[in-house]
Amino acid sequence: MPADLVIVANRLPVDRVTQPDGTPGWRRSPGGLVSAIEPVMRANDGTWIGWPGGDGSGEDDLEPFEADGMQLVPIGLEQDEVELFYEGFSNATIWPIYHDLVAKPEFHRVWWDSYVKVNQKFAAKAASLASEGATVWVHDYQLQLVPQMLRDLRPDLRIGFYLHIPFPPAELFQQLPWRRQILEGLLGADLVGFQLPGGAANFVRLVRQRVGHKTHRDLVYLPDGRTVRAGAFPISIDAAGYEKLARTESVVERSAEIRKALGNPRKIFLGIDRLDYTKGIYARLRAFAELIEDGHFDVEDAVFVQVAVPSREQVEQYRILRDDIDRLVGRINGDLGRIGRPAISYLHTSYPREEMAALYSAADIMVVTPYRDGMNLVAKEYVATRTENDGALVLSEFAGAADELRQAWLVNPYDLNGMKSALLEAYRSDDKDLTRRMKAMRKTIQKHDVAAWADSFMTELAAVSHSSHAKTVR
Ligand code: F6P
Repeated sequence: MPADLVIVANRLPVDRVTQPDGTPGWRRSPGGLVSAIEPVMRANDGTWIGWPGGDGSGEDDLEPFEADGMQLVPIGLEQDEVELFYEGFSNATIWPIYHDLVAKPEFHRVWWDSYVKVNQKFAAKAASLASEGATVWVHDYQLQLVPQMLRDLRPDLRIGFYLHIPFPPAELFQQLPWRRQILEGLLGADLVGFQLPGGAANFVRLVRQRVGHKTHRDLVYLPDGRTVRAGAFPISIDAAGYEKLARTESVVERSAEIRKALGNPRKIFLGIDRLDYTKGIYARLRAFAELIEDGHFDVEDAVFVQVAVPSREQVEQYRILRDDIDRLVGRINGDLGRIGRPAISYLHTSYPREEMAALYSAADIMVVTPYRDGMNLVAKEYVATRTENDGALVLSEFAGAADELRQAWLVNPYDLNGMKSALLEAYRSDDKDLTRRMKAMRKTIQKHDVAAWADSFMTELAAVSHSSHAKTVR
């Protein structure tokens, strides 16, 4: 049935997996994007187009289906598309460029060709499913060409685009051999949303410099008379939902169980990240280990729980990172651990929301130290679950969340000594200080939740005039 709201994202909210008994099943996809869009979809009765994961066995057996009350339309990727479009251009070209070149990007023309082809596939599917005058909301860096492709196919649509990761300054972006095509792809949207005002400003400046369109503040004027707006819409979480979850009996019990299993230390440090080189996991574990080596505390006093969610495991830089972290954790535990008391409790796995909430509740100090991050929803989830207004957040200045969570201990993840000082201050801080900081951060998160984020994007999109056909979806 044609839909009035179509969400287009590289991933569906569920991943196709093979269960232990060999039968196919579904599992929640990793990452912040999925957690953010799911509530919007439910509220608007939308249709979600995306890749169901897997190893690229094509789309023969993929039929639209309903999961958890959501209409999901899978787009299968062929083996070569997984390699060239997803692992290649999306995650080994765009991802490092958009994250400050934390890793070296690779440029391959065959990767680009596949990116164009897959974007076309997504655009065609969206065009076939959207009702007359519908709203289509395209998400993230894997699909930056879709807005213009879709506009060519369906000029009646209202098209929004949202980038979940940072948009880089011109100095980095212009390394891309296909920089102009990407800017033109994005300009197919009526509204292009970014996490922070800096990203929107980078985009408008690049459009002026590289495409030559006239711009004024957040507006781009196209030669055909259309205008495109660029704006900042910092993404958030379902704060009330997390708070409620943290208060449920089973989560409270599980949280106590986790503390006990860790030997009831004075303080539990926690890191939860996709295993990604942008997240700064290596440096943070070193900082923690050095605090023990320096004698500030002992493995009886403190433990660091690091959850590393498996991610993009076929991409070389991610494999290297995994080996590096494995070695570092082994070395730290070998050097500093005692029987039954490892310095670092390292878990290479993903957990359901309930277990995450129990971990957040059990942790005294949440450590979020990316070198660059669009937002970082883990930081916000931690804050939302601290129903007693306790707990400390150590947060990188280079995470989008640092713009809002000013009462965290803000750190520069490149500065190891600075990070050590912040961890130690958080470790030693008194209850009064913790409460003051956490109360303020919780207020921020409660006000700016995911519903407010989606509502402000949709309201702005509805306000962009472009076509008398377009219906209004909120
Ligand atoms: O928000 C960044 C993002 O890349 C999303 O687009 C994505 O869904 C998530 O992180 C997880 O990454 P991936 O889909 O590559 O597993």
